[in-house]
Amino acid sequence: MVLVCKTGGAGDDEQWKAELRRLMPELEIRDWPDIGDPADVEFVLLFASAPGLFDGMTGLRAVLSAGAGVDGFVGDLPQGVPAARLVDPWMQTAMAAWIVHAVLHFSRNMPAYADQQARGVWREQFEAHFEPRRVGILGCGEIGRRTGSLLADLGFRVTGWTRTARDLAPLENLHGAAGLDELLGESEFLVCLLPLTPETEGLLDAGRLARLPEGAFFINASRGRIVVQQDLVAALDSGRLGGAWLDVTDPEPLPPGDPLWRRPDVWITPHVAGVTNPVTGAALVAENIRRARAGEPLTHPVDRNRGY
Ligand code: NAP
Ligand code: GLV
Repeated sequence: MVLVCKTGGAGDDEQWKAELRRLMPELEIRDWPDIGDPADVEFVLLFASAPGLFDGMTGLRAVLSAGAGVDGFVGDLPQGVPAARLVDPWMQTAMAAWIVHAVLHFSRNMPAYADQQARGVWREQFEAHFEPRRVGILGCGEIGRRTGSLLADLGFRVTGWTRTARDLAPLENLHGAAGLDELLGESEFLVCLLPLTPETEGLLDAGRLARLPEGAFFINASRGRIVVQQDLVAALDSGRLGGAWLDVTDPEPLPPGDPLWRRPDVWITPHVAGVTNPVTGAALVAENIRRARAGEPLTHPVDRNRGY
């Protein structure tokens, strides 16, 4: 039973291999691109594709993602071969914690207090909000629901935007194009957790950012290309946005000279909000390998037509 490992960008390769070998000693793991005869390969574990990666893999049973997002390879999937996302509660908690931190940073005026501290100023910023503050989560799937429920526990009123209508209780739900306009109009904090697909690429452009309440905050933890970066900068310049926290940018890494680095209203982390944990991830991958070999459906299958 041969698995090709190409997890770069989603966990340490050596740790992935050690965990998989511990769980499945019968698995022969080959590193991309030294894969020997591609006809031997039954499984590919990857985060991003490469030209010709799947060529000659005539015995391929399943493609398994080393991350939650599959935009790095979904366009290259061979016809008829099932693929699965990594849906790991460990990662969901890490993502949710990062997003809650970012929302609280802005909602509790931390940028202003940091500035005051630098100048030795003791002065209350306006803190009292007697109505729940509104958070909109674009893409309210596995990670969005976990994040939303933590924010709801902290007193925020949370609405999740989805492609199809969903019961997200206790969160509210909006979906589709009309739902997006409504969500943008009410979101003091806009969190992006959408997968990158042909439908979501460039979704947040100048027109849509202009629908946000004046001074709203934008938090992106999914993919940089969902927002038109120059429109984001213009929205910050105009004051439409009061600040942004970006774990993802376009491109990555963000070039050293990019003006986003030097903005006092932008916080940047280098795509670390929810790094893959190979220890918890390997158990989930091993279960899908078992399922594929038993002819059972994979957990969390990728729908190549939707792109996620
Ligand atoms: P998921 O469970 O597949 O959820 C995706 C959500 O997006 C679903 O609610 C889906 O709607 C919605 N959606 C997709 N296309 C849409 C569209 N065109 N219009 C409106 N809603 C749409 O994904 P997840 O596990 O939560 O992960 C989300 C993303 O987070 C990943 O794709 C990845 O890019 C990113 N991520 C980043 C990091 C990091 O470290 N920064 C780590 C992990 C994940 P339906 O419910 O109707 O299907
Ligand atoms: C990270 O970005 C992931 O999709 O897991």
